[in-house]
Amino acid sequence: MPASEIVREADALRERLDNWNYQYYVLDRPTVPDAEYDRCMQRLQQLEAQYPALQRPDSPTQRVGAAPLDKFRQVSHELPMLSLDNAFNEQDMLDFNRRLLDRLGAGHEPLEFACEPKLDGIAVSLLYRDGLLVRGATRGDGSTGEDITHNVRTIASIPLRLRGSGYPAVLEVRGEIYLPRAGFEELNEAARQRGDKTFVNPRNAAAGSLRQLDARITARRPLQMCCYGVGQVQGGELPGAHSQVLECLQHWGLRINALSRVVRGIEACDDYYRELAEQRAELPYDIDGIVFKVNDLGLQQRLGFVSRAPRWAIARKFPAQEEMTRLLDVEFQVGRTGAITPVARLEPVFVGGVTVSNATLHNADEIARLGLRLGDTVVVRRAGDVIPQIVSVVPERRPAGAAAIAFPQTCPVCGSPVERTGEEAVLRCMGGLVCAAQQKAAIRHFASRRAMDIEGLGDKLVDQLVDEGLVDNVAALYRLQREQLLGLERMGEKSADNLLQALERSKHTSLARFIFALGIREVGEATALSLARHFGSWKALAQAPEEQLLQVSDVGPVVADHLVQFFDSPSSMAVVEQLRAAGVSWPDLAVSAADLPLSGQTWVVTGKLEAFSRDEAKARLQALGAKVAGSVSAKTTCVVAGPGAGSKLARATELGVEVLDETTFLARLAGLEGSS
Ligand code: IVH
Repeated sequence: MPASEIVREADALRERLDNWNYQYYVLDRPTVPDAEYDRCMQRLQQLEAQYPALQRPDSPTQRVGAAPLDKFRQVSHELPMLSLDNAFNEQDMLDFNRRLLDRLGAGHEPLEFACEPKLDGIAVSLLYRDGLLVRGATRGDGSTGEDITHNVRTIASIPLRLRGSGYPAVLEVRGEIYLPRAGFEELNEAARQRGDKTFVNPRNAAAGSLRQLDARITARRPLQMCCYGVGQVQGGELPGAHSQVLECLQHWGLRINALSRVVRGIEACDDYYRELAEQRAELPYDIDGIVFKVNDLGLQQRLGFVSRAPRWAIARKFPAQEEMTRLLDVEFQVGRTGAITPVARLEPVFVGGVTVSNATLHNADEIARLGLRLGDTVVVRRAGDVIPQIVSVVPERRPAGAAAIAFPQTCPVCGSPVERTGEEAVLRCMGGLVCAAQQKAAIRHFASRRAMDIEGLGDKLVDQLVDEGLVDNVAALYRLQREQLLGLERMGEKSADNLLQALERSKHTSLARFIFALGIREVGEATALSLARHFGSWKALAQAPEEQLLQVSDVGPVVADHLVQFFDSPSSMAVVEQLRAAGVSWPDLAVSAADLPLSGQTWVVTGKLEAFSRDEAKARLQALGAKVAGSVSAKTTCVVAGPGAGSKLARATELGVEVLDETTFLARLAGLEGSS
């Protein structure tokens, strides 16, 4: 190939890759399949390796090239990176507005404000010279930060060269680098699997990822950058309003927040605040408030600064998602499978919009990792609708002689021995169905809506039945007599009759529900459905050797092992026999995989779902015969999109693929599962 053609090809590849990056990372609108992107990237890498003269610092191949540093260089900010004043309520906002108008004169009412979510990440400065990214730095103390150029170059939403034209010769862009929640969960899950320390929250994870001397580590973290302003500007003009400056930044290839809006008057700021407060839990990233800025840059100039914060902006904070409180005690709960879970009893504290007095501690490893002792002051976090977690201990507040947390040597409920089996982090009561806690949990599960659906058999009643010695396993439910029920506290004739009728009704069930109701370890609803479909009858299932079990779509070695143990256990099988003798029955099925309602279809699940996790949704779809894929293509049959769905949803819309919201999806599932 002649040299000029090679140069042209490399240029074309770079331009194409840059465009795709911009579409994907800045606009959230992917345009080509990953495979095509990868092919072009490989071709460019190949050309640059073969002809080193083609190499350029802003090539998309150069995001992770640098050798690890031995220390961070200091950077002094030509213009200081300021902080913001805080507002905590509507009155603070009214006061802010009054201060602005007092300085500017009432003629400016109503003022125009740019409203932006306050991302909870790390503030950074990016310096572009003639469009080329030459420096990335942390805020540090506002006047001196650290040079993190090697790390910011790995972040896909940060352009190595600005797009288009018309940008100033020197342009310093400021914004926040953060880790979306999904990326944070992934990172922590991987750390847990390796037995490594986990990150306390997405903000710390982002900070830790940027503080790497080795950019290859940063490159593996799914960091994002969102720009919210500019610092130094030389050799060029920017428009006269903050919102217009942000639009320019977007044109030049930088990411800005899609939820930003310009409003008139301080009341409209309050509306925006409330709107975002409602969306907060569903957003794919953490925000800790809303930043309001006077939009007119001329007015900003007139208002100026006080000490370290501008007069023209304010951050209205949301209720904190992290608070400090004291650990009063640790109690141990015994679950359905005997797993003993430590639960922290806390001095009640208002966090994330609710009062929290309990938090799960997961297992002994978690307690060891936290270094937790009784009486410790702890940081409690409740983000969105997540269960409260203890994220860290405040060591300087530890009272003298704080006692270590002792794990029980025997089951706190039945006194049976406890064991830690194999690799498991959890401690288990070995009492099995002798243990009242396990009996209760097993009965609650058996009676639950998606299992045998025994209406009126709530948690309190289950406790009573077990504590009074009327029921010790699920089969005993069907032997309950009216007189026995009437002997229970707070049980009237009507409730007793209703319960007996509900028990009678529950006897007509389906094989899938029955398998699920037995509470075999690791056998959830979707697995139960797959097993029922695969074997068609209880007999076929109970006699199946392990190899046959392993042929079922979502059964792996662990599940197969639990199933075999269940079928080999005389006491478990005796309970099944008693249930069948009591009249529990279902129609046997005769289906093969090809007859499943979603056979041959490919589905994609994206965004956040309310009713179940994405994994559960996936398992339910698979049980109906669907293939569940990770990316949207022309072959996709249907996309289920919850709040926060991004590029996959955009891609589906672009390709004209059917998109279902969660409610429609649930209705569709119910219809399909009922019919099969
Ligand atoms: S403006 C002069 N806008 O909040 C104004 N800051 O407490 C300086 N932050 O260090 C900042 N989102 O890290 C601004 N949309 C936003 C922001 C934002 C998050 C952070 C930023 C800053 C801190 C100030």
